[in-house]
Amino acid sequence: MAAGRASLWALTIVLVLLDVGQTSVLPDAARAYAAAHGCDARLNAWCDANCPHAAAHGPLLARFDTTAAGHPPAWRCYSRGALSADTQRYERGTIFCTRDAQLRAELNACVDGHDVAGRAAAAPAPQCVVADAAQPSLPPAYEATGSERFLAFSVAGHEQLNKQRRALLHYMRLAAALGRTLVLPRVHVLRKDKRAWEGGASRGVASWYVPSGTGYFPLSAVYNTSRIAEYVPAVEIARLWQLSADDGVVPPADGPAVERAVERRIDVLFAADARVGHGPPCAPSADALVEFNGVRGVRAREVRCGLLHSEAPLRELAHVRTLGFADSFDQLPEAQATHLAPFLRFTDEISSAASAYVSRTFGSQPFLAVHWRRADFQLTRAARADVLLDARALIARVQAVLEQHGLRRLYLATDATEDEQLGLVRAALKPERVSWLADSERADMREAMDVANIEIAICAMAAHFLGTRTSNYSLTVREERRARGLSEGTHGFLVE
Ligand SMILES: *[C@@H]1O[C@H](CO)[C@@H](O)[C@H](O)[C@H]1NC(C)=O
Ligand SMILES: *[C@@H]1O[C@H](CO)[C@@H](O)[C@H](O)[C@H]1NC(C)=O
Repeated sequence: MAAGRASLWALTIVLVLLDVGQTSVLPDAARAYAAAHGCDARLNAWCDANCPHAAAHGPLLARFDTTAAGHPPAWRCYSRGALSADTQRYERGTIFCTRDAQLRAELNACVDGHDVAGRAAAAPAPQCVVADAAQPSLPPAYEATGSERFLAFSVAGHEQLNKQRRALLHYMRLAAALGRTLVLPRVHVLRKDKRAWEGGASRGVASWYVPSGTGYFPLSAVYNTSRIAEYVPAVEIARLWQLSADDGVVPPADGPAVERAVERRIDVLFAADARVGHGPPCAPSADALVEFNGVRGVRAREVRCGLLHSEAPLRELAHVRTLGFADSFDQLPEAQATHLAPFLRFTDEISSAASAYVSRTFGSQPFLAVHWRRADFQLTRAARADVLLDARALIARVQAVLEQHGLRRLYLATDATEDEQLGLVRAALKPERVSWLADSERADMREAMDVANIEIAICAMAAHFLGTRTSNYSLTVREERRARGLSEGTHGFLVE
């Protein structure tokens, strides 16, 4: 369809939304909250049912905002008294409940037209075709044109954040090579039960990765998408779904634009094949409904089995509007990613949280940072003497390196859970940590993800860094250090 019509419809939607936002005849409580995407009533009702403040201070309003202590914005159930007169912002007091993961789940479910248990809602889903107002997104100047070709990918569900980063780098390169616009998937936070690996040898690999929580966030919550777009044209996935809607469904002649059905569509989908050990079983098919990047009901016009890696056959699909790669486990190796490092940077929010921590904790003193990867590596890398080391070996190595570089302060990032090992390290090295409890078991998903990334940024600010071999977390630290212009001589491994 003509690009002109697409932008006209986009404009109509924006106008409709502006209109809702400015209707001052509505009572304040009923005024739409943009970040709720029309799901205000559902989120508020959830708050009234689940936040104990509802009894004395209800009805409550779900807002994405901060606290008196200046905590990062999160979804919270606020009392009217805690909000500004127009109810749009947090202003004062402590009468609210922070329920970020739960409210995000409600919002995602509402926007996707599911209830939280995943059943399709009977009523038509509220439409969500605009960028999430609460999230930073791509420069608004970036507009897709009718001839634009897209490349979308979705990473296999068991892959952690730093593996998703490897996949992102792989597809950044592929999209650039094919002249396609890269579709940025939501990041998937998958919390492993950190103790599940204990005694896991007898239970088999699957049980080491018992997820204790899961959540999806826009990629722009982690990475600076403007930087990515300097390397390859890029849009967030919500925008792709919006574009599919624009040219997949003929809008009613006189109906309001927001009542269009959203068709989430990928034209040719390459699905990872269980026969090579990844992904669900795949059968070639036409016009299938698939799950993609955590969204069910994505229409794949054609499903081909097996991920395609060589560029030549993909170039033959130049006429296909959207290529997708599902359950991908592609990873760009370190050596091929060096030139991409400047384009894949954390958001300013993450970097400045790290800088603030470093100046608060270390002042102007240079420090050593260490990533000591343990937990399930003790099983998965049991045979690798160049990977694993225990507390005593760690202490000896760190003391030697501190001395060698004339450093006195230490930052420790670790997933170790054993009290005895941690106790030895703590007594001997007195390391700094963002949280000694490393309490990611209790933190919500967004907070757990932010803390992990802030720790990476802290490690990247150290005078010297020692990582764990074969850890993609340590690899991200190295890439972040390269992006900051630090030389290869400033990092190494715990086991030489
Ligand atoms: C992205 O990077 C640019 C250039 O460094 C910066 O000006 C901008 O504030 C960053 N945006 C975010 C969301 O971090
Ligand atoms: C990243 O993780 C993969 C899979 O565990 C591993 O094979 C690879 O060596 C890691 N990369 C680096 C540079 O450590």
